[in-house]
Amino acid sequence: MTTPVTSPAQSPAPTKAAPRVRLGVNIDHVATIRNARGGRHPDPLRAAQLAIGAGADGITAHLREDRRHISDADIARLKAEITRPLNLEMAATDEMLAIALRHLPHACCLVPEKREERTTEGGLDVVAREDDLRALVQRLAAAGIRVSLFVEPAPEAIVAAARIGAQVVELHTGAYCERSLADDGAGVARELERIDTAAEAAAAAGLEVHAGHGLTFNTAGAVARVPEVVELNIGHFLVGEAIFTGLGPAIAQMRVVIDEARKTLLRPSRARS
Ligand code: PXP
Repeated sequence: MTTPVTSPAQSPAPTKAAPRVRLGVNIDHVATIRNARGGRHPDPLRAAQLAIGAGADGITAHLREDRRHISDADIARLKAEITRPLNLEMAATDEMLAIALRHLPHACCLVPEKREERTTEGGLDVVAREDDLRALVQRLAAAGIRVSLFVEPAPEAIVAAARIGAQVVELHTGAYCERSLADDGAGVARELERIDTAAEAAAAAGLEVHAGHGLTFNTAGAVARVPEVVELNIGHFLVGEAIFTGLGPAIAQMRVVIDEARKTLLRPSRARS
């Protein structure tokens, strides 16, 4: 489904009302393709460098516990070679904490992980894991790493993220993107409303707001219009689109989608206040 560019509820606002939205390119699935055959091709580091050349503001990679795509060696090479910030997505475990402290990425995004899932299916249950997450966040932050929690766009998760000292929340956009794929207009509106409300609450709690999961040319724009969102992390769609157009053009087109959408903010009056 193509999300409309404007709706009667929105009105044009000057771009200076909200910061530019950064694009983090997730290169996990370059590694998925490499690993289908073993060997070194296609190389996620080369993809990261190309992505940066095409306008990516940062590179995101998820070192999963089962190492199904990105490997430990990939993280070491990315950290050593790329010229933009590395955002390491990882499960909240002692093993991953040790790896993060060894490589010192710019940021860590803590995600829930289940071995049997195909992708990160939901947000972290911050409330249930408050104590161990707090300790992990403190260790990472003490090492100078910016810590983000991948959460559902739900008030309890936002409040808990702020309480345990996270600097950033990344709002899970998977449910919104699923409703869009199902051509469910009411569902899309409902999920966007959840994202919008959560973003506003997060910013009010002092958190920087990112978003991601499942975003495409059709769905990224509406999220980029949420004034508090300052970063989108996008992977699977861009790597898939690269088959047809090349990775550089796919990223360049995504930048246009995001920048064009940002010219028409949701809630422009509140963004300016
Ligand atoms: N953000 C987070 C926290 C994720 O776990 C993922 C998937 O690894 C993404 C963004 C990117 O999702 P997608 O590959 O669907 O664009």
